[in-house]
Amino acid sequence: MQKLAIQGGYRLNGEVQISGAKNAALPIMCASLLTADELHLSNLPDMHDVKTMVMLLQQMGVRVDSSVQAATFNAAKVDKLEAPYDMVKTMRAAILVLGPLLTRFGEARVSLPGGCAIGSRPVDLHIKGLQAMGAEIHIEHGYIHATAKRLHGAHICFDLISVTGTENLMMAAVLADGITVLENAAREPEVVDLAHCLIAMGAKIEGAGSDKITIAGVEKLHGASYAVMPDRIESGTFLVAAAATGGHITLTGARADTLDSVLDKLRETGAKIEVAGDRISLSMSGRPKAVNVRTAPYPAFPTDMQAQFMALNCIAEGSSIVIETIFENRFMHVQELQRLGASIEVEGNTAVIQGCPQLEGATVMATDLRASASLVIAGMVSQGETIVDRIYHLDRGYEHIEAKLSALGAKIRRTN
Ligand code: EPZ
Repeated sequence: MQKLAIQGGYRLNGEVQISGAKNAALPIMCASLLTADELHLSNLPDMHDVKTMVMLLQQMGVRVDSSVQAATFNAAKVDKLEAPYDMVKTMRAAILVLGPLLTRFGEARVSLPGGCAIGSRPVDLHIKGLQAMGAEIHIEHGYIHATAKRLHGAHICFDLISVTGTENLMMAAVLADGITVLENAAREPEVVDLAHCLIAMGAKIEGAGSDKITIAGVEKLHGASYAVMPDRIESGTFLVAAAATGGHITLTGARADTLDSVLDKLRETGAKIEVAGDRISLSMSGRPKAVNVRTAPYPAFPTDMQAQFMALNCIAEGSSIVIETIFENRFMHVQELQRLGASIEVEGNTAVIQGCPQLEGATVMATDLRASASLVIAGMVSQGETIVDRIYHLDRGYEHIEAKLSALGAKIRRTN
């Protein structure tokens, strides 16, 4: 099992290039199933979940020619309409092949993703929406078996805002017969990025980025070339790390317009932030001020940044309240932060943090992707050495994170 060894007490300084967004790349890769032409994607991040998605598509018969941070997908000869359990259980985003397979081939067998560390993660809204579009769906032996002669347009209102739910149904709708309206749709930038790629492939979509998306089905989609958007969560993670360590960094290849709520929150900690085109600079002199955080769907504060801000609050001046409203179990990092000496009390979905000047290095265990990032940040502001175990969680969603952090002056190395 690989670990990260971190020596605390070093400020982050310098420039870091932001990678392509994992949560945009994954649905966009599934969009390759919607056409027999070639889909050429660039700015793909080099991380485990992207590799897993390539393997999943290849075992269906999609030809994938990968190069550095780019790949060409060709789904002309898909001969297996199935996403097996052993691949879905390691990457829940595999559920995103359901809509494309069903709308292009009329059938799909996708393993139920099951839960994960942060929550039960149901997919009932995906299924309900596809049924509204005319799909026959049976759940048997842990698999979703869906069939449809041809999906038809429908007016669907989501009970809850769901990012991949919106993405799955948007992809199902692009080849359906007629108009589909998605109400209470997710507004995340990754949903917009997928819509832009689908439009480049010939889809007719209006309203992506708002809570009402209208899709007019077409007969066929054609190939396209598309560059995946920069990762806003990776951007936020590096900015929080710089604020926590009292450093001065510049992100390059970033998109500040997808980070408003995070940048505002960072300014509240006392960080100075400057934006110029695709560069975001942050400098923090002294200790950050504690900030209250309440997660909610975009454009509000993102749940994927909650754990990172909690790490900052552990060493900030003052006390703070962190409320997690999206997932029912996204405080797994709390007990690990407490091992580093953090003062945190949890009551339901609310955590109260008393900031202290310094944490003490210890061995801690990563439990999920963003909790891992939180522990890395905490390790950088702990006295002595911190060992973060089970960092395969981190490798799923961050590209070469220890190389990027080392280049910024962190003392961090990977060990077995
Ligand atoms: C996406 O997950 C992201 N993953 C998550 O990022 C992110 O945390 C989440 O959106 C929220 O922003 C990808 O895009 C691959 P949801 P998703 O459907 O789509 C409930 C990371 O760290 N719900 O928006 O699975 C659900 O339980 C990952 O990169 C239902 O009840 O999240 C949750 O409480 C973690 N029924 C809420 O809605 C459904 O059918 C939001 O979930 C679907 C969702």
